[in-house]
Amino acid sequence: MTSLPLSANRAALLDQQAADSRPIWLVTPETLANGQFPQTVLNWAAANAYKGKAGQLLTLANEQGQISGALFGIEPADKDKSSEGRLIGGKLARLLPAGNWHIEGKADHAELFAVSFLLGGYQFNRYKKDASAEEQGSVSLYISGLSDLAETRRLADASAMTRDLINTPTSDMGPDALELAARNLATAYGAKFTAVIGDDLLKQNFPMIHAVGRASDTAPRLIDFTWGKDSDPKVTLVGKGVCFDTGGLDIKAASGMLLMKKDMGGAANVLGLARMIMDAKLPVRLRVLIPAVENSISGNAFRPSDILTSREGQTVEIGNTDAEGRLVLADALTLADEENPDLIIDMATLTGAARVALGPDLPPFYSHDEAFAAKVAEQAAAQSDPLWRMPLWAPYEAKLASKVADINNVTTDGFAGSVTAALFLSRFVKNAKVWGHFDIYGWTPVEKSAATVGGAAQGIRALYQVIKQRYV
Ligand code: BES
Ligand code: MN
Ligand code: ZN
Repeated sequence: MTSLPLSANRAALLDQQAADSRPIWLVTPETLANGQFPQTVLNWAAANAYKGKAGQLLTLANEQGQISGALFGIEPADKDKSSEGRLIGGKLARLLPAGNWHIEGKADHAELFAVSFLLGGYQFNRYKKDASAEEQGSVSLYISGLSDLAETRRLADASAMTRDLINTPTSDMGPDALELAARNLATAYGAKFTAVIGDDLLKQNFPMIHAVGRASDTAPRLIDFTWGKDSDPKVTLVGKGVCFDTGGLDIKAASGMLLMKKDMGGAANVLGLARMIMDAKLPVRLRVLIPAVENSISGNAFRPSDILTSREGQTVEIGNTDAEGRLVLADALTLADEENPDLIIDMATLTGAARVALGPDLPPFYSHDEAFAAKVAEQAAAQSDPLWRMPLWAPYEAKLASKVADINNVTTDGFAGSVTAALFLSRFVKNAKVWGHFDIYGWTPVEKSAATVGGAAQGIRALYQVIKQRYV
């Protein structure tokens, strides 16, 4: 167990243009050809087969053979609708030679270009003997016309923390280390922190968190911190903190287990979102709840066919020990719901079915509240932080029926797995004014402009805006 890991980033944003700054011209195939560049530049581009396609960089040299500037391809404005297009700055962060740079003229969607530049420069090299950031050198960029550089950095830093937490393997990010990371974050912002650990979970009535996590050598726990003024609207974030998911006695195959250090991706993402909210001092009474467990196998592991009594009182028949996320979330959601908050948001790497439906890059979300759902969809598009609403399809609730308990944790046919998981959770939220559930992947399997392969911040830049605008 170690303390909060530190991320490296080769990219930084400058408040002012540096004295030795070199220009970057943003081009498209059309603007490259339309006459603003001298013939020497066009000849150099042609010699390099450089066409100015989105994401392509061409460095320019002076007569001494020193790099004097660069051309960087962006999406044409009319094709700029895709989230990838507006986050193209992420590629620039990885391609630029070390040193100081500035964007010549104005960038479209300058804020997104800037945040993607920082997101794209993220490097997880905590376990590398030769840190590649040093080999490659760092890049600093000045972009004119940014309205709030502190806000841009806030979003990027919080996202980097989220990615660090996910990337750190379970050997250094078990329930105890996740607690320490949350405690460090809470302390840094003056939040009030508690954790209910091990058998105290039984005494304080969190039976399902205990049952799922008790087979691990590292005790299960419920992380709980609150921040802000008691008189402000209550916003509670709940994150699935399964630090490793073997599947339990319904053990996963090797291929399905390989990535399961990321099963605390929901917790990592709500911690990133909490960091944004606290750092910006949004006028809310924030609470963060994270059931942190390892779904392990041992003689005392919970079993298929066991019947658990939840904190809420409903009994739950265990149809599959690999559907553990909804169990630990149910007890945490019940606690969240007990103080009638204005908003509960939960995030969880809950189902493989969500990936079958929408793939790794487009997390589904669920809410009964039309206005909230519309706002989430709007901000997901505006921030290029994709999220897609799926239905809490009430008729499917019957699939969760149990012959011996109040509810089963799985359905028998497995259809609509992300929907039925969401419906399971909905049984434990009754008093909150608005509830939103986000079934995220928490991982980037194929490099994108603003995300390298590894742990992923998903939806939290969008949700930060939703919260910011809801409580102005
Ligand atoms: N953590 C997994 C879900 C998961 C799997 C997310 C792969 C992302 C990628 C979760 O605990 C799980 O195992 N869910 C099962 C539920 C099933 C047993 C009803 C699943 O999705 O297969
Ligand atoms: Mn599982
Ligand atoms: Zn899981």
